[in-house]
Amino acid sequence: MTKNLSRLLVAVLCSRLTVAAVIAAEPAPGAAPAAPVPAAKPKIIKPADMPAAGIDRILLTWAGDPATSQSITWRTGEPSTNPLVEVAVSSANPKFGTNAVTVAAVTRPLTRSDGVTVFYHRVDLTNLTPATIYAYRVGHGKDWSEWNQFRTAAREAQPFSFIYLGDVQTHLKPLCSRIFRAAMLKAADPRFILHLGDLVEAPEKDKLWAEWFEAAGWIFRTLPSLPVPGNHDQYGAITKTNEAVLSQYWPAQFSLPTNGPAGLEGMTYFLNYQGVLFVSLNSERDLEVQAQWLDKVLTENKRRSWTVVSIHATLFSSGGKRTPDAQVALQKVFLPVIDKHKVDLVLQGHYHIYSRSHKLQGGKRVDPKAAGTVYCTSVAGSKMYPLNPAYDELMSRKGDYIQLFQIISVDGKTLRYESWSVTGDLFDSFSLVKDEAGASELVEGRAVKP
Ligand SMILES: [Fe+2]
Repeated sequence: MTKNLSRLLVAVLCSRLTVAAVIAAEPAPGAAPAAPVPAAKPKIIKPADMPAAGIDRILLTWAGDPATSQSITWRTGEPSTNPLVEVAVSSANPKFGTNAVTVAAVTRPLTRSDGVTVFYHRVDLTNLTPATIYAYRVGHGKDWSEWNQFRTAAREAQPFSFIYLGDVQTHLKPLCSRIFRAAMLKAADPRFILHLGDLVEAPEKDKLWAEWFEAAGWIFRTLPSLPVPGNHDQYGAITKTNEAVLSQYWPAQFSLPTNGPAGLEGMTYFLNYQGVLFVSLNSERDLEVQAQWLDKVLTENKRRSWTVVSIHATLFSSGGKRTPDAQVALQKVFLPVIDKHKVDLVLQGHYHIYSRSHKLQGGKRVDPKAAGTVYCTSVAGSKMYPLNPAYDELMSRKGDYIQLFQIISVDGKTLRYESWSVTGDLFDSFSLVKDEAGASELVEGRAVKP
């Protein structure tokens, strides 16, 4: 066993993984206390859709620092005893497994809308060595997954690229499989996928999550996901009750940072990846609180080279069937903070079109060398809306009815952005180039309309 492996620890976040809770309602004043009602026994049946080994939906995220941690979740159809992760520093020698250590998982039952209870398991590996490839497998007893690999980030700023996807949301298996595959084939060694929300149309429909995982195949087991919550990932936002409540599938499947405002943990969060600060906002609730939190985060994280803010609903976009009112509401709250801290990129989804702005400051187009922010909206899935003339004067590139993925590469003072169609045409590109003082210039790239 290596010294580094011996330092592996599990961060068991008990407070976030309560297995069961009984909430008793307060009796009305003067009323007799209600008799306790026994909790219904969960219906545990191995679902017909489980694989023979009973293990599926393996997914990587980060709850902590990408340089020293890795979170792994997976599902079983039965409450497996002693679910484990085996992990080792990987090597080309297939005997790397002899150095593996085992880490116990925390289990969370989830009762599906069909009444069947399934079990999600989670391990947060910490104290890993930066810039190192690890191999891992998940399982219990004699049932184990294949060995998968992940790579920890470097501690310092180093070149890397990542994939940014707009809403996938609909026709996940028939029409979104190709976007995951095309993005992986085009990107050179991407380090993670940033999902801009609305991962599925109806977040409590298990069969949609089954499609989401099948569409990506082995990718989610190898490349960490950074999901940003959209309206379709939260009940209230869909039913218009003004009570945006995150789907139970999110905390079960995604182990994410809890450094957001109280009550928004795992939705509003930030993490650093090799010199770039990534911030996820929840566009569906508590906007003022998040704006104050964002101001604090951007004030305290001064050592970043680049700042990327992701938010599902858009501040500036030229699409959708809706009026710009909702965008104006988000601008009012977030624009002063984004402008104040010179955020480089705002990545968005929701409107099911493509639009990419010039550099904007105070909601107006500014010179490519002036302080400002580029706002991008993209769509990966099959649900499409037509373009509209909203904010036409602010946009550099627009498109509709095109499935797109983006590859964003950071190399020192240069951030390069490319938007590709699913059939391999470069639809949009630009670079942001910074000088020694940190001022950036927007340089337009070439693009071909598919
Ligand atoms: Fe949406």
